[in-house]
Parts: sequence; C-alpha cells; structure tokens
Amino acid sequence: MPKRSPKLYKEAQKYLVGGVNSPLRAFGPVGGDPLFVAKGQGSRIQDADGKWYIDYVGGYGPMILGHAHPKVISAIKKVLAGGTAFGTNMAGETELAKEISLAIPSIELLRLTNSGTEAVMGALKLAKALTKRTKVLKFKECYHGWSEQPYLEADYNDLASVRQLISKDVAAIIVEPVAGNIGVIPPAHGFLAGLRKIADENGSLLIFDEVITGFRVAYGGAQERFGVKADLTTLGKIIGGGLPVGAFGGRKDIMQLLAPAGSVYQAGTFSGNPVTVAAGLATLKILKNRKVYSELEEKTLALVEGTEFNFKRVGSMFSFVMNDYRGFFWKMIGRGVYFTPSDKEANFVSITHSARDVEETIRSVRGMG
Ligand SMILES: Cc1ncc(COP(=O)(O)O)c(C=O)c1O
Repeated sequence: MPKRSPKLYKEAQKYLVGGVNSPLRAFGPVGGDPLFVAKGQGSRIQDADGKWYIDYVGGYGPMILGHAHPKVISAIKKVLAGGTAFGTNMAGETELAKEISLAIPSIELLRLTNSGTEAVMGALKLAKALTKRTKVLKFKECYHGWSEQPYLEADYNDLASVRQLISKDVAAIIVEPVAGNIGVIPPAHGFLAGLRKIADENGSLLIFDEVITGFRVAYGGAQERFGVKADLTTLGKIIGGGLPVGAFGGRKDIMQLLAPAGSVYQAGTFSGNPVTVAAGLATLKILKNRKVYSELEEKTLALVEGTEFNFKRVGSMFSFVMNDYRGFFWKMIGRGVYFTPSDKEANFVSITHSARDVEETIRSVRGMG
C-alpha cells in the first residue's frame, strides 16, 4: 500500500476543502486515502511512492493517447515559448473548430470554453433564449457538470418517461448519448432517434452531451456511431488533449444568437487558450486515422471479456457490474492496476495500452498476478 499518499493527503486537508479539488478524488465510494500521482507515461501512472499502475482512469476521459504523448508534448512546448494567454484571436482556434466541425457535421458553428460544465451552461442558456422556455429535461444520474439548472428528470432508455414529463415549458432535452456516469450504459435501440422525434414534435432542442463520447466512441462521437444528429452538442475532455477545455456548438441559426453575433452573453478569459488548442489539435491529428478506433475497440473487448466479470462497454469505455466493488478496487490497487474509484464512473482504454498491459490486467483481475 502507498506510504506517502496518506501523509500528503493529511497535509492537503489542511488547505484544500476535503483535501481535493474535485470530490471523487477523495475516493468516497471506496474509502481509504486517495492516491497522489507523481507522473504518467503512456498507459501507466506512478504514485508518490514510486509504484507504477496500469491506468484505466485516463484523467476521467481525456487521455485517449495515454499520458505524455510525445507529439502532444512537443506541440505544447512549441507554443509555450511564445506565451500562454493573450485574450485575442489566434489562428489555431479556427483550425480546431474546423476539425471538430468536419468530424461532427451537426456542429456548424462552435464556441470553446474551459470546461464541460461551462459548455453545458452555454448550450442551455442558448436553448432557453431561442425557445423562450425555462425547463430542461435530463436523465436520472446522467451528469452534465455542476451548474444548477431547472431540470426535470426522466429515466434513461425509457421514452415513455420522457413523454410523461415533456411540456411546452421544456427548452431542451439534454442527454449523454452513451451514459457514462451510471456505469457505462449504451443507448437502447431507437432511444436516441425517439428523443430526436419527441424534441422536434415539442419544439424543444435536442442537446447531446458528448463531453465523454466526443472523439471517444468514434472520431465523430456518438452522432457518428449511432447516426442521430443533435441541435447542439457539448464537448470537453479529448478535444483539449489533456488540458482544461470545453466546447459547445451546433446549428448555425442557434449558435448565431451568441454574442457578438447575437445578444446571448457568454465569454471566457482563457477560452481558446493557445496551449489547450495546440494539445487538442495534436490529439485530433492522431485520432483522425480511424484505424485507431477499431484497434481501441478490439483491445477493450479483449480486456473486459478476459476478466470474466460482468461488464458494460461501448468502444473503449467500460464499467464492471459487481457487488463488492470496494474490495475489488483496493485489491487491484495492491496489484498495480488503477480502475475508477466508483463503479458509476467509466474506465477508459488508450492507444498506449499494449497487449502486455491487457494480459497483465487480466492476470491481476483473475487473481493470478
Ligand atoms: C457527460 C459530462 N458532461 C459534463 C461534464 C463536466 O465536464 P467538466 O468536468 O470538464 O466541467 C462531465 C464531466 O465528467 C461529463 O462526464
């Protein structure tokens, strides 16, 4: 067991609320002292005691290329020497928006933000302004960031529950097209198309929160994988190449309501930051080789099937279904494999997870490691 992490955690608790900057890092669901990471390389992270782990948390989603990918680091270094914040336009922002729009054609115009939470706030503000309605329909246990919204909550994969709640007060239906915050739950056949239809009939917007799924379940995200288009899409995680980011975009007529084109105000000192943009562009350039996604899919399938546990999986995101997740988590930490500290969170495989990593993980999970 780690020795330095408990000491570092004690010190952190003196100055940081709960000793962390984001609640799940306190390992609430599994108890015990959280890990302090020293560094990461490829598929692995090293803790403050020098112990290495095969990492399936992947920074909660962004690290699809693994940690410290040389091409991303080199792109970051290149811009760093020229300064990091100007509060004015840089050409790279346009390039990143163009790449995103080419990948997800429903995104005709885009706005970059600094987090997924901000992206959702922007999309919902726009939806309310366009429709002049106040309510938002979401799904129980789906996560769209921490902002407070007037949410109505339907059941995931249950169109009847949506029909029950929908009304002319509903500005938008927002959904994770693959649920990634209740374990991984794929959309039932016809669910997303059904939402599209209900939204259209009711004059509400359909917002896909692709903060996790964008560039993860396919290069064009869930919209490519499942063939349903959203009016507005929120993004984050992967498009920042491991640096803080968010984005929202969609139909031109809706996005043009946003200032300075329109009157809905949304802004950000660091939005479109050059370091984030460089890391994001370097990441998308590698992902654009679509072979990446079939390889990720194969590797992830080999991994989850090899463990012989019950699992849920879409592409390279997966979760386990088991009774004693806490016991499993700590056993795996002991054996040098880092899964998410909550069975409600998704685990992620990166392009740097090797066949050896997969075999080693399977051996550890089966108790042979
Ligand atoms: C689907 C979804 N939407 C929004 C967010 C919020 O993003 P951020 O943590 O960057 O604010 C998350 C974060 O995990 C998420 O999973």
